Amino acid sequence: MTGFTLAHFSDPHLGPLPASGWREFVNKRASGFFSWTTNRVNIHKPAILKLLVEDLKKQAPDHTAITGDLVNISLPAEFEAAARWLSSVGTPQQVTVIPGNHDAYVEMPWMQSLGRWSAYMSGNRGTDGSETLPSTHGDFPFVRRLGKIALVGTSTAVPMPPFIAAGRLGDGQLSRLRQQLRQLAAEGVFRVVLIHHPPFGGGAYKRKSLLDAEAFQDVLMEAGAELVLHGHTHVSGLGQIRTPQGPIPVIGVPSASAVATGHKDPSRYHLYRIVRDADAWQLNIEIRGLNATQDAFVQQGSMVLTIPLIVSDCFRTAEAAA
Ligand SMILES: [Fe+2]
Repeated sequence: MTGFTLAHFSDPHLGPLPASGWREFVNKRASGFFSWTTNRVNIHKPAILKLLVEDLKKQAPDHTAITGDLVNISLPAEFEAAARWLSSVGTPQQVTVIPGNHDAYVEMPWMQSLGRWSAYMSGNRGTDGSETLPSTHGDFPFVRRLGKIALVGTSTAVPMPPFIAAGRLGDGQLSRLRQQLRQLAAEGVFRVVLIHHPPFGGGAYKRKSLLDAEAFQDVLMEAGAELVLHGHTHVSGLGQIRTPQGPIPVIGVPSASAVATGHKDPSRYHLYRIVRDADAWQLNIEIRGLNATQDAFVQQGSMVLTIPLIVSDCFRTAEAAA
């Protein structure tokens, strides 16, 4: 049986920062600008991101998911530049985007910020089948059906105080996520949940973590999903959410533009080849990363996961559960 190939990368942190007036820095952007000019500018390299996108296109995936942090300090000109860059990666039909905390660094009018990319976040937001564009954080999650694959795009991107990189889904989004996952389970599709922050408690790193991670895990334990993809940590990560029907893999990628540094991973992206056989989903994962000389992307590893079919009688539909 032919499979579906989904590419995933995250956290491109597009540079350089555009020139801006001083008024735009009288807020949290001041500390972010300092962090960029003293540290991040040495880590996130447009040339590396360019190599990644070139390599990804050669692999010709069926679709690409980008899990946030396209910009750095949410300047209007950064969103404009990111929109141009996105169109160079692919069309909104080929690429799905969700926002990260750097894409909501400060409060911004929607049409000067994430509204520039809303076509990449179009999808079904309810249960009536109609596709719409988002116009607020409250319009997430959205569902994109790609044959037997469904991408469920969440937003954890809400403005936080200076030095806080945490995220939050909120009760409304969690409730809609539960309903959407139940409905998709009844359809028997492979459900991929896209989320910027890893869905685990922060421990000592609470200021960078998902504040309602426990509630997110509760939704997945109840409604199920086949795969969760995230960014934010800038390291390769493999975790799981245990559910009564089996573990859900939770996989993160490093920043797409990062050079190798002491405590974070260099740029990588993943290719997920998803094939359904009689009893399970086979998930073939190819890890492609920057080689030692930082001039090409190569295969660095692979992994195969078998995910049991979550058949519709495991989960009731939203209507049946009401
Ligand atoms: Fe982030």
